[in-house]
Amino acid sequence: MVISPETFKYITWGWILLALIIFPVLFKINPPYGRHSSKKWGARINNRTGWILMELPTLILFILLFLTGDVQKTAVTWIFFSVWMLHYVNRIFIFPMRIRTKGKKMPLAIIFSGIFFNLMNSSLNGYWLGYMAYYPVEWIKDPRFILGFSVFVFGYILNQRSDTYLISLRKGGKTGYYIPQKGFFKYISCPNYLGEMMEWIGFGIMTWSLPGLSFAIWTIANLLPRALHHHKWYFNTFPDYPKNRKALIPCIL
Ligand SMILES: NC(=O)c1ccc[n+]([C@@H]2O[C@H](COP(=O)([O-])OP(=O)(O)OC[C@H]3O[C@@H](n4cnc5c(N)ncnc54)[C@H](OP(=O)(O)O)[C@@H]3O)[C@@H](O)[C@H]2O)c1
Repeated sequence: MVISPETFKYITWGWILLALIIFPVLFKINPPYGRHSSKKWGARINNRTGWILMELPTLILFILLFLTGDVQKTAVTWIFFSVWMLHYVNRIFIFPMRIRTKGKKMPLAIIFSGIFFNLMNSSLNGYWLGYMAYYPVEWIKDPRFILGFSVFVFGYILNQRSDTYLISLRKGGKTGYYIPQKGFFKYISCPNYLGEMMEWIGFGIMTWSLPGLSFAIWTIANLLPRALHHHKWYFNTFPDYPKNRKALIPCIL
């Protein structure tokens, strides 16, 4: 299917607008998975299966659009493809196998909304890189590429290390929640979310594209309110939770 650049622009701006509408709503409605899981949201399935189902469409669609698109692929475009794969291979095949959430369930409503988000997001970014954007090799020396790539790498490492540490808190068959004390957790409650945001802000900068921008905005719209919900939950759950710890941005928020 061929979409004109004009139509593509309108769809992407519409998608960004939807993120901006949903953003304030997510301060009020807390998506019920993980520690905020709730039976009130209807049928639920195994947490691990939920993660895989929710994220799988993004990989398939992105690869399909990227590879079938007729725009000439350069080393730069392949770097964009690789960072996307790096993130999603972990999120779909590795992360769900590592989490220690035996017996936990995720509402189908969350899975369907996740699938919808991933279909839209990977369509826009896959179509952009496969069918629309030509990045010459010289783009690699552009300050936007260098900055964006560095932010992505830092974010990826922060996200990975923080998720790994959180998962390790349940070593030895434990099931509950504990106060995280190491690494960036000394300063904020949700360094894994900060890392994820940095990844997609970095991607937006290095691709300097509207779909890249839309992904960054959606990630912030999703994870900033969730970080505040987590932070509040920690304070309500643990009387000895460190008082000077912030939610998401050290010393600020
Ligand atoms: N791009 C996006 O829009 C988006 C949206 C959502 C998530 N994500 C990413 O997906 C990953 C997982 O997200 P999430 O919301 O599940 O993160 P999370 O709430 O921080 O949980 C991560 C894992 O660690 C466990 N855990 C968290 N805090 C713990 C504690 N204090 N003690 C013991 N175990 C703890 C959780 O168990 P429980 O599940 O039992 O709580 C879960 O298995 C993150 O990397 C996040 O950035 C991205």
